[in-house]
Amino acid sequence: MYKEKILNILRASRSAFLSGEELARKIGVSRTMVWKHIKALKRDGFGIDAVPSQGYRIISEPDLLRQNEIKTGLKTRVIGKEIHIYPEISSTNTRAMEMASDNAHAGTVVIAETQTGGKGRLGRKWISPKGNLYFSVILRPEIPLHKAPLITLMGAVAVASAIRKACNVHAVIKWPNDVLISGKKVCGLLTEMSAEQDRIRHIVLGIGVDVNMDLDVLPTDVRMMTTSLLSETNKKINRTALLREILRELDHWYQVFLHDSADMLKAWENLNMTIGSRIAVSGAGDVLEGLAQGVDTEGRLIVKLDDGTTRTVAAGDVTIVKR
Ligand code: BTN
Repeated sequence: MYKEKILNILRASRSAFLSGEELARKIGVSRTMVWKHIKALKRDGFGIDAVPSQGYRIISEPDLLRQNEIKTGLKTRVIGKEIHIYPEISSTNTRAMEMASDNAHAGTVVIAETQTGGKGRLGRKWISPKGNLYFSVILRPEIPLHKAPLITLMGAVAVASAIRKACNVHAVIKWPNDVLISGKKVCGLLTEMSAEQDRIRHIVLGIGVDVNMDLDVLPTDVRMMTTSLLSETNKKINRTALLREILRELDHWYQVFLHDSADMLKAWENLNMTIGSRIAVSGAGDVLEGLAQGVDTEGRLIVKLDDGTTRTVAAGDVTIVKR
């Protein structure tokens, strides 16, 4: 706590030096304690100038996600009350599933700076270099099993809304839950679940957002369909601020969803770019082409085929067909 206070005071004084005595007085600890916390901040990667007779000033900050900073001003009801951060992990989804089985609280968030075995939809890999956001949220909704797929749609609503607010770019949702900017994917969501008969034990909502990554690290086929917030805005994004916004939006839309999933679906429809488009959707082996007409109450896509019949699709990959 004192470390965080010292950090905030140093940040507020910008380039001006602050003496150890002043810092000690401001937070009510001894000068020795101030010095100890400064040493700890340096260990965390902060660049701090320490000049005898002048004091301390902050010159650089590490680009790392930190628990206390994320929690500052978060004010959520459920999401992010407990946060675990790993510098490197196989997959935040896998870790969150383990924690959920060990009775972790609903709303627990598992974050990693990088993943060595990041998982994507339909058994794909999720390439996870440093500079992005990779996190998973443990949820324990008391809903019937058939409503579970709506959790991923809810996640997409939260991420698209948060990106619009925090980065001022036009993020849209492609069914079921990809978030795109200018036609390219900027975020993917992967939900995993543990259930028995008709009862959900827990759901893990995994979110990967391409924030400040260098797109050149991606293989060409993936790169062509991918964008990052950095390349869309030409600005390095503050990942902490963005993550906080996403957690806040998740907290909000999760409550909306629990209260009335139709309200959440309305928000999804307002943010989506699939409905009304001619699409091709590939699922288990076959490809359907037609007009995306809407989503049903369980989030399945309703497609009107050229022969006039209607099909409902629960999972698959959508491409927009231009004629
Ligand atoms: C997709 O294929 O679009 C889904 C990608 C989901 C990636 C995220 S990154 C955090 C979480 N951990 C994982 O292993 N996957 C999800």
